[in-house]
Amino acid sequence: MIADPLKTQATSKMMDMQLREVAPASAHHEFVLEVNNFNVDYGVGENMVRAVNDVTLKLRRSQVLGVAGESGSGKSTLVYAMTRLLRAPGVISGGDVTLNITNDGDSDEVTPINLVTASEKELRQIRWSHVSIVLQSALNALNPVLRVGREFHEVLKTHRRELTKSQRHARSVELLKMVGLNEDRLARFPHELSGGQRQRIMIALALALDPELVIMDEPTTALDVVTQREIINELNELRSRYGFALIFITHDLSLLIELADEIVVMYAGAIIERAGASELYEAPRHPYTLGLINSFPPMHGDRRELTGIPGSPPDLAELPEGCSFAPRCPYAMARCLHEAPALLNIGDSDRSVACWLHTGDSSVTVPVELSRSSSPSRAHVTVLQDHT
Ligand SMILES: Nc1ncnc2c1ncn2[C@@H]1O[C@H](COP(=O)(O)OP(=O)(O)O)[C@@H](O)[C@H]1O
Ligand code: SF4
Ligand SMILES: [Mg+2]
Repeated sequence: MIADPLKTQATSKMMDMQLREVAPASAHHEFVLEVNNFNVDYGVGENMVRAVNDVTLKLRRSQVLGVAGESGSGKSTLVYAMTRLLRAPGVISGGDVTLNITNDGDSDEVTPINLVTASEKELRQIRWSHVSIVLQSALNALNPVLRVGREFHEVLKTHRRELTKSQRHARSVELLKMVGLNEDRLARFPHELSGGQRQRIMIALALALDPELVIMDEPTTALDVVTQREIINELNELRSRYGFALIFITHDLSLLIELADEIVVMYAGAIIERAGASELYEAPRHPYTLGLINSFPPMHGDRRELTGIPGSPPDLAELPEGCSFAPRCPYAMARCLHEAPALLNIGDSDRSVACWLHTGDSSVTVPVELSRSSSPSRAHVTVLQDHT
């Protein structure tokens, strides 16, 4: 990750000292984020539903983690809760989330921050500077009565107090350029911009303080296919240039293959499959992942028949006994109706799946469409275009 030239040593050292009170600095850590056995519930008592169920994941520095799953699978709840933006009746009911932030001037040392127990003051220091979030409703997130330039000035004024007005303007222009927009957009109101331009502005704002982790919740869902593809290409370019780690959430798995290094698939609040992006897309192991792949046209490559997934996502208040996907699964066996499969590594690979088809039971025949092999390569198209 490149150093932020605008960050003064004095202010960042001060912040690091405050953060050190949370946890002692540790040796260099390859993971920017570690989530362990994380549970999130809505409501209490009899009305309680578990929207995030025992999620464990790790994100390496500068890596892109894709999170996929149908609407209602718990993707937004996971990232809202992880970053402590979750509102009542949502409550974190177990597990921990550690953000390993780098200390300025010493890229080999990190300070682990426990996000579950961090105070509001500590969270304010971390958000935007170290972790920034583009929320699901981002297209409407810009204040309609403010010119775009004001949004940039407010962020920089709050978090980079040392900057003069002209330095703030220069940084705003630089940020717009990063996302392929001309500086004249700073004088525009949100309604004068297209959806794609507004989304680019949200991405530029998220990158304003050079964070080490960026989280984007369905940032392209409301956009047309061409604009979606352009933004994915730009994100590829930006992350290779600036080195931030990215969690990219979408219900469209075909988008993730263009962007993600690793993908986790969620169903009923749990991770049901985890693998390298091309492995997962070309050679899915879980029937639900296969169904998701067959629900969206691929961005590149041959067309194929879109078959979708029968039925609808489960009611979290009435999850079936056994595998939660069983009522919709064309491969369900007797065992699936009574015993819930755990998320386990497949053989000696580092990919994992929660499905009784893949536990090595010799009496189970794995269908050919769930036992394909994958090619190791992944094509990235990284062309920055002008979208003024
Ligand atoms: N405010 C809420 N109150 C109660 N349940 C909620 C609330 N928000 C979300 N949920 C439950 O959490 C589940 C996951 O929602 P969400 O995280 O928004 O899924 P996704 O982002 O994958 O579409 C939903 O199916 C719903 O049952
Ligand atoms: S465990 Fe059984 S029901 Fe669940 S996804 Fe696998 S085969 Fe289908
Ligand atoms: Mg969501």
